[in-house]
Amino acid sequence: MKNYDSTKRIMVTGGAGFLGSHLCERLLRERHEVLCVDNFYTGRRGNIVHLLSNPRFEVLRHDICFPLYVEIDEIYNLACPASPIHYQSDPVQTTKTSVHGVINMLGLAKRLEAKILQASTSEVYGDPVIHPQPESYWGHVNPIGIRSCYDEGKRCAETLFFDYFRQYKLQIKMARIFNTYGPRMHPNDGRVVSNFIMQALHGDNLTVYGDGSQTRSFCYVDDLIDGLIKLMESPDDFTGPVNLGNPEEFTILTLAEKIIKLTNSKAKIVYKSLPGDDPTQRQPDILLAKEKLNWQAKTSLEQGLRKTTEYFASLFNKRDIGIVSIDNSLIKGGLRESDYVKL
Ligand SMILES: NC(=O)c1ccc[n+]([C@@H]2O[C@H](COP(=O)([O-])OP(=O)(O)OC[C@H]3O[C@@H](n4cnc5c(N)ncnc54)[C@H](O)[C@@H]3O)[C@@H](O)[C@H]2O)c1
Repeated sequence: MKNYDSTKRIMVTGGAGFLGSHLCERLLRERHEVLCVDNFYTGRRGNIVHLLSNPRFEVLRHDICFPLYVEIDEIYNLACPASPIHYQSDPVQTTKTSVHGVINMLGLAKRLEAKILQASTSEVYGDPVIHPQPESYWGHVNPIGIRSCYDEGKRCAETLFFDYFRQYKLQIKMARIFNTYGPRMHPNDGRVVSNFIMQALHGDNLTVYGDGSQTRSFCYVDDLIDGLIKLMESPDDFTGPVNLGNPEEFTILTLAEKIIKLTNSKAKIVYKSLPGDDPTQRQPDILLAKEKLNWQAKTSLEQGLRKTTEYFASLFNKRDIGIVSIDNSLIKGGLRESDYVKL
């Protein structure tokens, strides 16, 4: 049964994860009914605990690799572990989520004639040979490497989306998300922002690999969520794929210095040699997002880092009263050099 008033019933898969929890929060603020579907593989109850008392919010513990029968108007499909240490810990499950899971979500959308948005990734460009990457670039991806479960899984998901669009006239939206950071990132996800903040809060030295002159671009989570919602609400004839990310680049050294300043840390920067698989630079070309969605990131790196640092600091405080037991063990475990992985 379709819902015909302006309040939509929206399903967010991966809704207990980093991006998903912010999306649920934002959709609730816009007065929609939100069904958060998550198997809690990397998602955490702590990310959505503040939403549980909202009568328009519902949580379902479910793995999207299995079919799901619910009545909804729109689907944001975000389910999939996003950081390399997480998606590489069970690579077969990662591919299943992007293939079996996506087939299930597309099947559900088809039955309900619901609009469906896929959280794709800049990783579909692989190790790109052109910079920045426009959506028309087909990518340069290794099909058999340790990252392929994620990269190729997401590429197959894109293929499935566009085949459902052509074959069944499904309303689809495809977002290619670039590196995003903010509160509720997993503290031990091995990414450079969380690594540096955790090291600074621990009072450990910040490890820069190489001379720190390599650049990265970082999009703050609120900006990204704006982009996803604008894409979902864009005219029917616009499917994407569309890049969503912040094209502004910073050196790793600048990032480390900003974090040391923000945390008032006495930590120093220590240099180690670059791992063999250090990522080639990836930077979004967001012309299409500007033109079709009137979207671009607004939050400065300082503002975003401040909020992220405050969040990580609050985890440290809560640790004492045992609220974040999962994070607690991770924090106690500290950071290992092997946690350094590609962005
Ligand atoms: N964060 C980024 O920088 C980034 C960049 C590009 C793309 N993305 C994409 O955005 C989405 C969300 O990323 P995130 O950073 O929030 O990651 P995350 O790991 O915090 O969230 C993923 C969520 O999906 C859930 N999940 C995983 N497999 C599932 C399954 N089979 N069934 C149900 N739930 C499942 C996890 O428990 C978790 O809550 C992912 O699809 C990711 O590929 C994120």
